[in-house]
Amino acid sequence: MKNDSRRGFMGKAFGAVAAVGAIGSFVAMKKSWDPLPSVKAAGFTTLDMSVYKENKLVTEKWRGKPIFILKKTAEMVAKQTEEQKARDIVIGDAHFMVSIGLCTHLGCIPAYKESDEAFKCACHGGEFDFSGEVTKVPPPRALDIPPFRIDGNTLVLGEVGPEYTAMKETGITL
Ligand code: FES
Repeated sequence: MKNDSRRGFMGKAFGAVAAVGAIGSFVAMKKSWDPLPSVKAAGFTTLDMSVYKENKLVTEKWRGKPIFILKKTAEMVAKQTEEQKARDIVIGDAHFMVSIGLCTHLGCIPAYKESDEAFKCACHGGEFDFSGEVTKVPPPRALDIPPFRIDGNTLVLGEVGPEYTAMKETGITL
């Protein structure tokens, strides 16, 4: 009798632990089902642009390529040249530098240095400013801008909107 109730208690305790474990693994599984903040499907990457912080580089992915997203500070916006401004993607009041994160020299991934507000490529010393313009060769051109379409507060990479078409036509990106 004593043994039975002990077994019953142990059984319940074990069952409770197993249940907690099952909930834990369900939560873990659910996390892996949930879409990432950026939803990637069929060659498109949809980004919620409200999540980015000023002067903090975030590297997203589009078709296997790194995509740099840099929300500019008010100071950056105020001091930038017309050429830098022409590369901005403007969503509401926010100005963004969005580019393919591959050096236009030989394809290394440049690192962003917040204190310098600049990208530095470790491979051959190339540098880009916070808009992606070349400030130090050998890169032959600015960082490339991926096709994009602005949709409210989101940016759809892989779709062509009027702002991207204008950038192509004016030679701001290839
Ligand atoms: S690959 Fe960046 S400078 Fe050569």
